[in-house]
Amino acid sequence: MDLRTRYLGLSLRNPIIASASPLSGDVGVIRQMEDSGAGAVVLPSLFEEQIQQEERLAYELTSISADSSPEASSYFPAAVAHNPGPHGYLDLIARARAAVDMPVIASLNGTTVAGWVDYARLIEQAGATALELNIYRIAPGASVTGAEAEANCVALLKAVRSQVKFPIAVKLHPHFSAFGDFAQRLDHAGADGLVLFNRLYQPDIDLVRLSWSNDVSLSNPGEIRLGLLWLSLLAGRLPRVSLAAGTGVETSSEVIKYLLAGADAVMTASALLRHGPKHLRSLVSGLETWLSARGFASVSDIKGLMRLTHPEAETEAHERSNYIESLLTYQSPYVRQ
Ligand SMILES: Cc1cc2nc3c(=O)[nH]c(=O)nc-3n(C[C@H](O)[C@H](O)[C@H](O)COP(=O)(O)O)c2cc1C
Repeated sequence: MDLRTRYLGLSLRNPIIASASPLSGDVGVIRQMEDSGAGAVVLPSLFEEQIQQEERLAYELTSISADSSPEASSYFPAAVAHNPGPHGYLDLIARARAAVDMPVIASLNGTTVAGWVDYARLIEQAGATALELNIYRIAPGASVTGAEAEANCVALLKAVRSQVKFPIAVKLHPHFSAFGDFAQRLDHAGADGLVLFNRLYQPDIDLVRLSWSNDVSLSNPGEIRLGLLWLSLLAGRLPRVSLAAGTGVETSSEVIKYLLAGADAVMTASALLRHGPKHLRSLVSGLETWLSARGFASVSDIKGLMRLTHPEAETEAHERSNYIESLLTYQSPYVRQ
């Protein structure tokens, strides 16, 4: 069975990628991911704020006279084990690359076009195979229009693109309007791939303490539907850009559905956090078993098989009619037929 796929111009042995999470900040776990069949790994993000903070602290430290307190290093915040901050990040890339043969994709998370984008060059020099640019911004104020928010993302991609030659994927949340046009503009700005979708931070309210709780809730398979829809709409329409699916994988069924919709690669974080890196084995073997049971010889045979092929002008009417039909045919024991 040929499980190979191409993503960002890279050849992966199979389409299943361990997505950015605390697990991929540990080189021992990255090795287990490779042993369990991962096609590639994305490291946890290095955040714009971390880089700016390190630069600010370095400036403050060099402004202090040489014989001042040796405790100066305590000005630096304690690093979180899986995310060692800017300096340790380059080291993590180098160690991960030395430990495994699969592609190691670094991740930068920022919102502004500023000096920190130089970091993309350092990440490339440290040996990362590719870069995932996690553009995570919400525009809560009334002063930023949707067009401006999208233009900022495109400008940010262009700024990073100008620093490096290696492939760049852009990881996006689903809350952009006119997503088809936005995807095309990212393509023209030099994206090699899009990751659909990241999950927005969604806080909850603790009714006992009357306080916000910002714990992360892991995803579930019901969340793949928005990604399925957009992958099936975009697949084949952006020939230069590869597409990765990004949310809700729990079993190989979600992997297969995403591939059928048009994904070139499928990422998973929650399932690995829930079940451990060895879970990758069951995702890969489930995909293989399904392909051979259905008589397919390769992943390429099913990629985009279910994508929407209507002419662009008819797509909206088609989707609208599906939407109306789904509402009108809904059945409940409490609704009189
Ligand atoms: C605990 C945790 C940490 C994460 N850290 C990052 C990160 O550093 N960078 C990033 O781009 N995404 C991060 N993500 C998002 C995941 O990579 C992924 O896009 C998201 O969880 C959706 O995939 P899933 O449904 O398989 O969890 C994190 C997710 C979780 C649950």
